[in-house]
Amino acid sequence: MSSFDISSVKGDLNRGQVSWEAPSNIALVKYWGKKGLQLPMNSSLSLSLSSSKTKTTLSWKKKPEGEGPSFDLLFEGKKKVQFQKKISTFLKRIEEKIPSLKDYHLQFDSENTFPHSVGIASSASSMASLALCLGSFAAYSGVEAFLGDAFYEQVSSMARLGSGSACRSIYGGWASWGPYELDEREKGSDFYATPFTKIDPLFEEMSDFILIVDSSPKKVSSTEGHALMEGHPFAEGRILQAENNMNKLVESILKGKWDIFQRVVENEALSLHSLMMSSNNPYILMHPRSLAVIEKIKEMRAKTGVNCCFTLDAGPNIHLLCPRSENAKVKRFIESDLRDLLENERWIEDSVGALGPKPLEC
Ligand code: PMV
Repeated sequence: MSSFDISSVKGDLNRGQVSWEAPSNIALVKYWGKKGLQLPMNSSLSLSLSSSKTKTTLSWKKKPEGEGPSFDLLFEGKKKVQFQKKISTFLKRIEEKIPSLKDYHLQFDSENTFPHSVGIASSASSMASLALCLGSFAAYSGVEAFLGDAFYEQVSSMARLGSGSACRSIYGGWASWGPYELDEREKGSDFYATPFTKIDPLFEEMSDFILIVDSSPKKVSSTEGHALMEGHPFAEGRILQAENNMNKLVESILKGKWDIFQRVVENEALSLHSLMMSSNNPYILMHPRSLAVIEKIKEMRAKTGVNCCFTLDAGPNIHLLCPRSENAKVKRFIESDLRDLLENERWIEDSVGALGPKPLEC
């Protein structure tokens, strides 16, 4: 991928601004469990979406010497104290990458393009957009690692330190993260994600219907969930399963094999939730209506042969995926069979966004 064009920065090193939007992503092979500093226990593969995004503007102002760093975080124009700690930890973690940050007051203004009360996780797109802004500041101020073609790799590595899955939101389309190797030339990394581009035409245009089953805040956060993988009785098996599923999923995407794709995607979604239910402090994030929706999808598919499959994040909502050619049929099915099972009859139509993040006018 190409480097960052510093002409989109407004102002100068004393006082300036840069804005980015970054997509949300949905994992098909799930990252679940970490080691070291935000490194994944297993490989993962995701799709970046085209409509569900976060836009962030970073404004910087140089401080008088010795004052020390400070920051404000505004979400939709309002201070968000609950994100304060997460951002503060993130900024500490990236200190080494951009040492001059300690001389600045930073202000982050973020907003999502999707409604925030529907239970769609926004940490990937938020952290990715923050990291893109900070990476642009680094490139603008001449930090060597962020100059040239390594920009996106560096930003992905930085986004990972904010939220693991955010490292995949640095790219459009499909992205993988972790040790999985497609071949000798395309080695995966635990430190950053890489775009995955060898796609059969069947998977080039995919839709993602996000079915809102329950939007209440999660009772167990992803951070707690990852931690419960330490000492999990099935941890070793999970690592093997994920690598095996990566192989099968990649083969299905390369060769256009829907049946394998569907089986692996659904196996991953249900395995993620099984890992939560079988952890040492077991918990359930699915809702009874998530199960009802899954049953209806399976019934419809068995009856009609429509190519579609479901996946879930660490929450009760269902992502119903299909090639774009099946859109009309899937929409009719949601209207007729699923609508009553959804919270406020709500669903969001999204699709894979090939373009990925982009700098915005400040
Ligand atoms: O990035 P985190 O720490 O919010 O973890 C995300 C975990 C899953 O969404 C469940 C899976 C994934 O790979 O995105």
